[in-house]
Amino acid sequence: MSYIVTEACVDCVYTSCVDVCPVEAFHEAPNPKEGAEGTILLINPDSCVDCDACVPECPVEAIFEEDNVPEDQQEWIELNATAENHPIVPSSKDPLKGPKCANPNAD
Ligand code: F3S
Repeated sequence: MSYIVTEACVDCVYTSCVDVCPVEAFHEAPNPKEGAEGTILLINPDSCVDCDACVPECPVEAIFEEDNVPEDQQEWIELNATAENHPIVPSSKDPLKGPKCANPNAD
């Protein structure tokens, strides 16, 4: 089991989730959806210890426990599994709030 980052993170990348993660499970990646643009954080399922700390930290509610991922976000379970191909984000940084961010005023 793991926690999953979903679409709402794309290009918002607030990174408040990162500082509460005890195992450096967050990786920064180009949006892995085919043909999609933007940047996202992904959770490495091999690192995640299911602690639940990140969920309330995300201002756009992008993170779900694997069993609770909404129906229309299911593809993100597989996409988060590619996290290890990308660099770890060791600590929070300024929110990206890029052009694809659906909710740039959430924090
Ligand atoms: Fe993304 Fe939310 Fe973390 S927007 S970077 S999952 S705090």
